[in-house]
Amino acid sequence: KAVAVIMVGGPTKGTRFRPLSFNTPKPLFPLAGQPMVHHPISACKRLPNLAHIFLIGFYEEREFALYVSSISSELKVPVRYLKEDKPHGSAGGLYYFRNIIMEDNPSHVFLLNCDVCCSFPLTEMLEAHKRYGGMGTVLVIKVSAESANQFGELVADTITNELLHYTEKPETFVSDLINCGVYIFTPDVFTAIQEVSTHREGQANIRHLSSFETLQSPTRALPVDFIRLDQDILSPFAGKKQLYTYETMDFWEQIKTPGMSVKCSGLYLAQFRLTSPHLLAAGDGTKSATIVGDVYVHPSAKVHPTAKIGPSVSISANVRVGAGVRLISCIILDDVEVQENAVVINSIVGWKSSIGKWSRVQADGDYNAKLGITILGEAVTVEDEVVVINSIVLPNKTLNLSVQDEIIL
Ligand code: GDD
Repeated sequence: KAVAVIMVGGPTKGTRFRPLSFNTPKPLFPLAGQPMVHHPISACKRLPNLAHIFLIGFYEEREFALYVSSISSELKVPVRYLKEDKPHGSAGGLYYFRNIIMEDNPSHVFLLNCDVCCSFPLTEMLEAHKRYGGMGTVLVIKVSAESANQFGELVADTITNELLHYTEKPETFVSDLINCGVYIFTPDVFTAIQEVSTHREGQANIRHLSSFETLQSPTRALPVDFIRLDQDILSPFAGKKQLYTYETMDFWEQIKTPGMSVKCSGLYLAQFRLTSPHLLAAGDGTKSATIVGDVYVHPSAKVHPTAKIGPSVSISANVRVGAGVRLISCIILDDVEVQENAVVINSIVGWKSSIGKWSRVQADGDYNAKLGITILGEAVTVEDEVVVINSIVLPNKTLNLSVQDEIIL
C-alpha cells in the first residue's frame, strides 16, 4: 500500500503569481483546463494500491473544500486537505501530519511539489526505488547549466544512481542535474526528520545559554519545527547510501510565474493528446469552430463557428467567443467574453474580463521575461479596437487606449 502527499504551500508562497493569485490559490489555477494540483493527483491515481492522497498547505480549508470533495468522488480515491497552522517547511509539513499519513501503515509515501509540471513517471520511479532499497528516491532531470541555479543541484553515482551530493540553489555551479520536486520515501523518512529536529532543538538550547551569540548571529535561527526537505534532509543524508535518483527524459518545468503557467498549460495539453485525447476539442463538424493543435474548451463555453482556436489554448467555464475571433497560446478563464474579430496571443485573460471588437491582447511569448506574456487580471475591460501588448493589467481596470510594455496598476 502507498499514500501520496502533495505540498501546496500557502498564500505567502504564490506572490510571483500575482495578479492571478489574488482570488484563486495558485494550486487551483487552471492548466489545460484542470486545476494545477489536478495533474499530480491524476498521476497518483494511476498507481495501483494507492490508499489516500493528502494535500498539505496553509491556505484556508474552505479554499480547497469544494475541489477536494469533487475530486474524491470522481477518482474514487480519498483526497484530503490537511491545513498547517503555520508554514513548517516541506519536510516539517509532512512530519506534522505523520500520524494521519501513516494511519493505514503504507509501505511507501510519494511526495510531490504542486508547482512542477511533468509526466510524473511514478510507476517507473517506484520500481527503481524498490531496486535501490534506500530511504528515498528523488526524480531528477538534466537542465541547461545557466538555469540550474534556480533549483537544487546534485551529483549522482553514474552506476548506482546514489545521491552523492546535494546543494540547494548554489551560487557557484555544481551540476546540471537538478531536483524535480518529486520523491518516494519509505516510512524511515519520519525518523530522519525527527533526527534533524532533535539536533536543531539541541542547538537552540546552546544558543539560549549564550545570548551574545544570538545577538551576533546574522541569520536568526530557524524554528525547531521548520524543516526543509532539500537543505535539511537531502543535503545531510546525501552520500550515506540512503538516497537515490531517478532521471526523467520526459518534459519538466517549474511553475512559479504566470508566464510559465501558459507554457505548462501547453505541455499538459500536448500530454492529453497521448493520455486523455477525449478532453481535447475535436473541431470536426461544420457547426463548430476551427481547431488547430491541442485545445481545451469547457463544455459550458460558447465558441462561434467562425472563430479559429489554437494551438495551445485553454478555455474555461461560461466563456463566450464571438465571430471571427482568433486565439493562440493562451488561457481564457471563467466568464470571459471575447467579442467579434478580437485576437488573443500569448496571454492570460482573467475571470469575467471582456475584450472588445477588433481588439488585440498579445505578447511575444518569452515565458521567462517579466512582460513576456500579457496578463489581464480579474474583471478587466478592454474596449473596442484597443491593442494591449506585453503588459500586465491589474483587476477591475478599463482600457480605452492602447498600451505596450506597461504594468497598469
Ligand atoms: N505545506 C507546505 N508548507 N508546503 C510548503 C511549505 C510549507 O511550509 N514550504 C514550501 N511548500 C511547498 C511549495 O508550495 C512547493 O510546492 C514545494 O513545497 C517546494 O517549495 P519551496 O520549498 O519553496 O522550494 P522551491 O519550489 O523553491 O524549490 C524546490 O523545488 C524545486 C523543484 O520545483 C526545491 O526542492 C528545489 O531543489 C527543486 O529544484
